[in-house]
Amino acid sequence: MANPKKTVKRHCWSNLFTHWSVAISTIVLFISGFGQMPMYARYGFTKIPGFSWSGNYKITLNLHYAAAIVLIFAVTYHLAVSLMRKEFSLLPRRGDLRESWQIIKAMLGFGKEPESDKYLAEQRIAYLYIAVNVMILLITGIIKVLKNTDFYQPGASFIFWVSNIHNAATFALLFGVFGHLVAFVFKDNRKLLPGIFTGHICCEYAKHRHSKWYCTLDVPETTDQLPAVQGEILTVGD
Ligand code: HEM
Ligand code: HEM
Repeated sequence: MANPKKTVKRHCWSNLFTHWSVAISTIVLFISGFGQMPMYARYGFTKIPGFSWSGNYKITLNLHYAAAIVLIFAVTYHLAVSLMRKEFSLLPRRGDLRESWQIIKAMLGFGKEPESDKYLAEQRIAYLYIAVNVMILLITGIIKVLKNTDFYQPGASFIFWVSNIHNAATFALLFGVFGHLVAFVFKDNRKLLPGIFTGHICCEYAKHRHSKWYCTLDVPETTDQLPAVQGEILTVGD
């Protein structure tokens, strides 16, 4: 019988570090960016005890800058690590749109789910969507920072467009992050959640949902073999 405690390593610490530094800095950038719009003062949020700071432009701007530094560092780190390790499993492949549709249909009870690699086709598409919007925000954000200094004063219409693109990408990313989180409401995807906190996911789940990836791992067939495994690949969850 399948041992539900048998887990397989899905993410190394470097992946976890990248995910959480991007996720946390992005959330802070949303919160501080909306503060500059300035939404919180307009809708009375600043009147809630403990949240008066959210209407202070200087505080939200400094928060935005601090989170931007973390995001720029995390993105640079992610690009460097991916290139050095030649690790491109998150990049979309030909046929991913069709495959995503097949996966969605299978989740709704129509047809069989195609065999998946480490990431599902829809995860690869989500990655590209999020990455493109983050890059647009980084580039337009850096131009906006330069505009706030004495060194660079671009034309008003250029800054107008840069700001509009920064705002449009903000909403596009918000939509993407919302979709990313909603994906885990579905039972079929939920078993990936422990992986982004602990680095490990259920072995049986990996075997069935990510069979192509599972085949590449050196996983012993029986639990009895567990002690012989060299730490990294397989552990028993507590
Ligand atoms: C705040 C709560 C969040 C949770 C619980 C969460 C959860 C997860 C999980 C479980 C995975 C791994 C899926 C796997 O192992 O295959 C993942 C991957 C990923 N996350 Fe998050 N995430 C969060 C926030 C964010 C944010 C704010 C961003 C982006 C700005 C983000 C971007 C990504 C990307 C690009 C991936 C890889 C592609 C994918 O699996 O869709 N996440 N996240
Ligand atoms: C997830 C990434 C980001 C999001 C969601 C985001 C969101 C926002 C939002 C909503 C605003 C307010 C726009 C307005 O006042 O009309 C803003 C302003 C701004 N953002 Fe971002 N931003 C992000 C990343 C960045 C980055 C990486 C930088 C810098 C490198 C940056 C620099 C700025 C600057 C300088 C302003 C204008 C501040 C001012 O002069 O009033 N942003 N951002």
